[in-house]
Amino acid sequence: MAQINNKEQYVHEVFNLIADDYDEMNNLMTWGMLKGWQKLVMDKTNITSGGKGLDVCCGTGEMAFQLKERVGATGEVVGLDFTENMLQIANAKLKQSSLTGLSFVQGDAMALPFADNTFDAATNGFALRNVLDIQKVISEMARVVKSGGRVVCIDVSRPKNLFCRAFFNVYYFKVVPILGHLVDKNKAVGGKFPAYTWLAESLKTFPDQEKIKQMYLNAGLKDVHYQGVGFGAATVYWGSK
Ligand SMILES: C[S@@+](CC[C@H](N)C(=O)[O-])C[C@H]1O[C@@H](n2cnc3c(N)ncnc32)[C@H](O)[C@@H]1O
Repeated sequence: MAQINNKEQYVHEVFNLIADDYDEMNNLMTWGMLKGWQKLVMDKTNITSGGKGLDVCCGTGEMAFQLKERVGATGEVVGLDFTENMLQIANAKLKQSSLTGLSFVQGDAMALPFADNTFDAATNGFALRNVLDIQKVISEMARVVKSGGRVVCIDVSRPKNLFCRAFFNVYYFKVVPILGHLVDKNKAVGGKFPAYTWLAESLKTFPDQEKIKQMYLNAGLKDVHYQGVGFGAATVYWGSK
């Protein structure tokens, strides 16, 4: 398989390619458990009615809509992503919902276009694996939340239990790419891995839970914790500014 030299450009192309089927594939691949995991993310934000939330790497907007539900009519939520086709789907859902106080912007998670101390909470779903500099993204999320605000991320992880881990390895590295090829048609992106092969491969170099926790601490966040979900196939991380 070819090396990925320009990761950002490659990731951008991958998500432009798979945007139309992204939500359906997510639910399929997580056996319908995704909504429960996202609820835990929302609970960990501690955000309440009237609050201001940010969802970084919002994709098709699913978590941004859930944040909006938490902050209610008087609250405000911004979803940010750099991929046009993902944002287009988020905006189409927004148009259908006729909600106000929710907007989607195009931008870079590594250089958030917001002033320090703007949000009550910032979330990130399944995108740390995709960014060039994980520490930078966590630090940026910490910068834009207010004192006492939460930074909450969820991403794929490898189960600790050996039986679960063996099952996960087969499912994630063998079955997911096959399911994904229904969407990416096994077509290389820019001459490199087909989208869903790479999405699975990206876990191989992704730091473990303790390393992510250390990145939270490096960003100046306190009371940092993490919790596995889906038998450890994903982990939710949270910390306070
Ligand atoms: C796996 S998707 C996750 C989408 C959504 N958060 C969810 O939970 O379904 C990863 C998203 O991260 C976005 N992304 C990756 N790198 C980014 C960056 N540097 N800045 C902004 N968005 C980025 C991609 O465009 C993609 O929409």
